Amino acid sequence: MATVSPDVPDADSIIVDPRHDDAARLEFAKSVALGLTDTPPWLHSRFLYDERGSQLFEEICEQPEYYLTNSESEILQRYATRIRDETGPLTLIELGSGSSVKTDYLLSAYAANRAPVRYVPVDVSATILLQAKDAIVARHPTVTVTGIADTYEHAFPLFKEFSPSMVMFLGSSIGNFDQRESDIFWQGVSAGLMPGDYVLVGVDLVKDERILHAAYNDAAGVTAQFTKNLFTRINRELGASIDVDQIEHVARYNTEWQRIEIYARFLSQQDVYLHPLDRTIIVPSGTLVMTEISRKYDLEKTKQFLRCFDFSIVDVFTDEKRWFGLLLLQRVGR
Ligand code: AVJ
Repeated sequence: MATVSPDVPDADSIIVDPRHDDAARLEFAKSVALGLTDTPPWLHSRFLYDERGSQLFEEICEQPEYYLTNSESEILQRYATRIRDETGPLTLIELGSGSSVKTDYLLSAYAANRAPVRYVPVDVSATILLQAKDAIVARHPTVTVTGIADTYEHAFPLFKEFSPSMVMFLGSSIGNFDQRESDIFWQGVSAGLMPGDYVLVGVDLVKDERILHAAYNDAAGVTAQFTKNLFTRINRELGASIDVDQIEHVARYNTEWQRIEIYARFLSQQDVYLHPLDRTIIVPSGTLVMTEISRKYDLEKTKQFLRCFDFSIVDVFTDEKRWFGLLLLQRVGR
């Protein structure tokens, strides 16, 4: 395969998205206005992950009811070496940056016997990338970390520079995308890769509704805090004064759509002032604002679906309970 081309960034560098803070704020305000005035109302899930939100998500992963993390870890612990043997040495590109134990299983397998490995995490937060980098370099001296601080879409065109590579998208993060977003995502990933490159994607599988319900309604209320934090963020960044105590977390499983749907229920009317737009949006009492979906997958259908984007299915791994699936895909030539 091709050697690393000269325009690959230097080792240990972070490529930062130069976009201005105010521009991001304005974009956030516009998205909130658009979502809250739509029928039915919604807010985009990507805004759940400010600093506090990311921290709360880490806490969700530690809740006993949130089985996804353990199930996927079980798979990676067991099969990381087999995946490495299958693909051979390559650059590991991760969408979302892993300082996590899951990523560590893969890094350990690829860096075994002090093999040199390039690891390229993609994350909108440069701070998180730097933290991940320090943790990883300390544990794996032969791993070179090149973070990309940008959105996934902006990173797709850079993939070719890193070929041969494997793009990792773990934790069933793909489940947050609706059908249209998912289509755009897979088209982008596929177009960014060279034939022969790999993708490793984790998907949460359809299962007993009670298990799903519990995972998104943990007893400690961390998921509820995660949902409510979105409104704390709107207050802080957009100058609103939403009474967050008058908002309730609602998570239900939609059987027909095979997805968890998460809403914020407004227990009283709230006038949401958005400073960057100098505009107020009235949200009536009882309104359910959708903040997130988490799709659940059927392995057979998922394989069929992925073939539509020029991927062949190299391997499919599951945990003992068959609650979670990990698919190894290879980009085919056309
Ligand atoms: C990060 C999208 C995988 O859908 O399970 C967890 C997000 N939200 N609990 C998921 C989430 C509430 C999570 N993903």
